[in-house]
Amino acid sequence: MDGTEPALGEVEWTRLDRLRAKFLVGGPGEDYWSDGDLVRAYDRTFGARIRWKWREVLAEAKRRGFQGGTRVLDYGCGSGVAGREFFRQFEAGPGAELVLWDRSLVARRTAAELAEAEFASQGSPTITARHAPPTEALDADVVLISHVLAEIDGGDLAMLLQTVARARAVLWVEPGTREVARRLVDLREQLATDFTPIAPCPHRGACPLARPERSADWCHLFATPDPESFTSSHWRRFSDNLGVDLRSLPMSYMVLVRPTDAGAEPAGELGRPLGRPKLEKGRALLDLCVPGDVRRVRWLERTDRRLFRSLRGRRAFHPLLRVELDGDHLVRMEPVDDFHGED
Ligand SMILES: C[S@@+](CC[C@H](N)C(=O)[O-])C[C@H]1O[C@@H](n2cnc3c(N)ncnc32)[C@H](O)[C@@H]1O
Repeated sequence: MDGTEPALGEVEWTRLDRLRAKFLVGGPGEDYWSDGDLVRAYDRTFGARIRWKWREVLAEAKRRGFQGGTRVLDYGCGSGVAGREFFRQFEAGPGAELVLWDRSLVARRTAAELAEAEFASQGSPTITARHAPPTEALDADVVLISHVLAEIDGGDLAMLLQTVARARAVLWVEPGTREVARRLVDLREQLATDFTPIAPCPHRGACPLARPERSADWCHLFATPDPESFTSSHWRRFSDNLGVDLRSLPMSYMVLVRPTDAGAEPAGELGRPLGRPKLEKGRALLDLCVPGDVRRVRWLERTDRRLFRSLRGRRAFHPLLRVELDGDHLVRMEPVDDFHGED
């Protein structure tokens, strides 16, 4: 949102409310994109929030060495936030192409219009947004999948996995609910025979949560909402009308690349905090993913007061960390990348 668009009207809010009810039920069903206005209203609300997730996922993918691609497929594109954010963060080189695919013709058309409008203002004329053929596996270097797993049926998922099997990289973002996140863990294990996971996993081995005894746990993280969601009447209305907690943006995601593109793993003992830290007086409890396990560990405030303040801040806390553990005591943690915590 750039603040210049007209406010959404009562009719649009009512339609978005109905859409939300459909999303909550989930499961394969009818195409719900009745017209382009609904896709555009989605793009300014639910879609915008999903885009904030992609902003973080793509930034982390870049930090972990992912270099983008030329032919990029946004599968189940809806309004196409994933593809647009991709080309905001990765420069469109010669021949760069965004392929938009959705079972809904209305979604494909509207996503193409939104992408063309955005890329025109970005001055990236080499990108073409176009519709993909409906029934065969697609060719793309990079496959983006966003909030599709709850809706797709088995046949289409098999076709999507064939598309993924031809690609060099897949970036997959889902809402962070237990059921879908568990499915993503299974897909990671399935795809890890041909791909290397580079994020959010702090290791390249088997996912510890794939073990049967961990079936009650799920891998989820939080993205940080854009500051505009706390200052604009548009977002206040969104929250009031649709009952959405603006502070919370849960997600599950995975970034997988071909082993030859994966580069070397960062050196040292690595970990990544999942979920939300539990803050107590003078200490925090973190669910830390480390090679072979996700462990609840204790970390003392006095170890690094500035980092401790970051755990309390508005920004979600999921940096890749170098860690030193003594049993369940996290003796030391140090972000691998430049880390701009909150003071
Ligand atoms: C919740 S929306 C997410 C849209 C978009 N990817 C995003 O993250 O904002 C799910 C999208 O998946 C599409 N979809 C559902 N089943 C599909 C299928 N079998 N093949 C392709 N697209 C599908 C829907 O039409 C819808 O656009």
